[in-house]
Amino acid sequence: MSTVVVTGGTGTAGRAVVNALVAAHHDVVVTSRSTSSVHGRVRTVRLDYGSPADLEAAFHGPDAVVHCATSFTGVRGGETELGRRVLAGARRVGCGHVVSISIVGIDRIPLPYYRAKLATEKLVENSGVPWTILRATQFHELVTRLLSGLTRPPLVLVPDIPVQPVAAEEVGARLAALAAARPAGRVPDLGGPEITTLPALARSYVAAIGRRRRVRAVRLFGSVFAGYHAGHHLAPGDATGTITYQDHLDAWVRTRR
Ligand SMILES: NC(=O)c1ccc[n+]([C@@H]2O[C@H](COP(=O)([O-])OP(=O)(O)OC[C@H]3O[C@@H](n4cnc5c(N)ncnc54)[C@H](OP(=O)(O)O)[C@@H]3O)[C@@H](O)[C@H]2O)c1
Repeated sequence: MSTVVVTGGTGTAGRAVVNALVAAHHDVVVTSRSTSSVHGRVRTVRLDYGSPADLEAAFHGPDAVVHCATSFTGVRGGETELGRRVLAGARRVGCGHVVSISIVGIDRIPLPYYRAKLATEKLVENSGVPWTILRATQFHELVTRLLSGLTRPPLVLVPDIPVQPVAAEEVGARLAALAAARPAGRVPDLGGPEITTLPALARSYVAAIGRRRRVRAVRLFGSVFAGYHAGHHLAPGDATGTITYQDHLDAWVRTRR
């Protein structure tokens, strides 16, 4: 048993990490901007990496930090500055292991957020804190959020790109296992069990929620979509997730009834 800090432990990946750590009988400290509370083995500490923060209050004596907090704009300097502050806290308290979640293809698709993720990976590698980095493909939950917006108009236009989504639950379980193990550097990517297309998932989504929509696949241009068309965000050799998008949809629809 050990104590693990989960930054962003209220988010999609972070919640899954917390559940897996608790199931494995670890004590968990979650950092979040909104609440302070204690529930069983989980202590939530209010902490905003966007303002001068008392990191030691949260980072007191953890064996590992799993870094899942993410920010597009919330922290000045965005994602990378957030990572820098987390790493500074981990270093200050002599934490022995930082586990960081990243994204497959960030070095080959020129999205600003991906550039920031890549810069954050470099910070982790050079932080002086023993580290592990796991890259994953897009989460099922992100795909569903995206499709929920795209499928509102009567004619649904969906980028014709390949996708290999993975369940956040499986990413969380992998991160928790990595946190309990020795620092391992960059570990094999985690991809979902099947490679399909976003329009195919959009058709599954509208069928699952009973919305009558025609889905049309559209080809988009530019360097970002060239990267997606080329499949740089896929991990065909690391399709170790087992929960399919349809599994996720079935469970998600049940919770909406
Ligand atoms: N989504 C995907 O498909 C995907 C795929 C591969 C990798 N990833 C990576 O996985 C990580 C987590 O993504 P996610 O989708 O789980 O994110 P998310 O659901 O949006 O959660 C973001 C978390 O960050 C915390 N946070 C944001 N700004 C903060 C700040 N200024 N100070 C403290 N906490 C802050 C939020 O906590 P509060 O709101 O409670 O403060 C929340 O818990 C990211 O690094 C992302 O790049 C995501």
